[in-house]
Amino acid sequence: MTTATAPAKIILFGEHAVVYGRPAIAVPVTHVQASATVEAGPPGSGCTLIARDVDRTVHLADDAPDDPLAAIVRVTLGHLNAPEPDVVITIHSTIPIASGMGSGAAVSTAIVRALTAHLGHSINNEAVSSLVFEVEKLYHGTPSGIDNTVIAHARPVFFVKNKFMETFALRSPLRILIADSGIRSSTRAVVEDVRKAWEANRGRYDSLFMSIGQIAVMAHAALEGGEQSALGALMDGNHWLLRQLGVSSDELDRLVQAARRAGALGAKLSGAGRGGNAIALVTEETLDAVTAAMVEAGAKQVIPTLVT
Ligand code: MEV
Repeated sequence: MTTATAPAKIILFGEHAVVYGRPAIAVPVTHVQASATVEAGPPGSGCTLIARDVDRTVHLADDAPDDPLAAIVRVTLGHLNAPEPDVVITIHSTIPIASGMGSGAAVSTAIVRALTAHLGHSINNEAVSSLVFEVEKLYHGTPSGIDNTVIAHARPVFFVKNKFMETFALRSPLRILIADSGIRSSTRAVVEDVRKAWEANRGRYDSLFMSIGQIAVMAHAALEGGEQSALGALMDGNHWLLRQLGVSSDELDRLVQAARRAGALGAKLSGAGRGGNAIALVTEETLDAVTAAMVEAGAKQVIPTLVT
């Protein structure tokens, strides 16, 4: 029996602009995780995937062309040049679905790692990331690749699509609250809407993307320098720009404002927007007050995490 896990992620700076080649920063969130366990099945049974959390069982032999679980198994077997094994893969995840925390990429990552190890191979983070990216492309249209990168490396990343990726160390740990708006949002749909808006008004959108990218560059320096209040101000600025892009919502704005009023150093939406999560940078002293304020402002769940 072989088990592997993968963390969730949040985007600290640069979502959407990253799709257009601007830099962005994402960090892993280990308080919630996806896991995959591979066990030998009866001879001739082929590969079965069981995801009890979402009440789904998939047999690879049934073809299942639209299934992301089957897809990641296929690309992994293709990479290993291995025939379909007789195995049962059980998947479990505590990562909220469709909320911008990369639940799909985390499940895929756990499957790649567990299946590869079970078949006696080793695989580096870069290869895991590119296999997961293949499946992200099938289900998310035109992803930048930041989600699979941060989840496969399980470290903070400074990322420029197709050009540059650097994992880096934070000077001081970040206490982040992740507040779920309770509204499910399709990354694919929001990314497509932004593309339509960009096509209709390239000048305005390119300049918003550029400003977001500049914030990500400043934030990278602030993270390496441990300048938390500067980071908070950059989060506020990034949220304002995301509102201009049209990807926020009343619910997310309410969560962000409540967090700031209760003493957060900064707050913004995180991920594709419209629904999903708002994040707030807090200290040990403001943690409880900001959590309470975000719940009061409508958060369905607030996950505290310490990013190191
Ligand atoms: C989704 O986590 C982040 C977006 O920038 C899309 C992407 O980068 O692929 C909205």
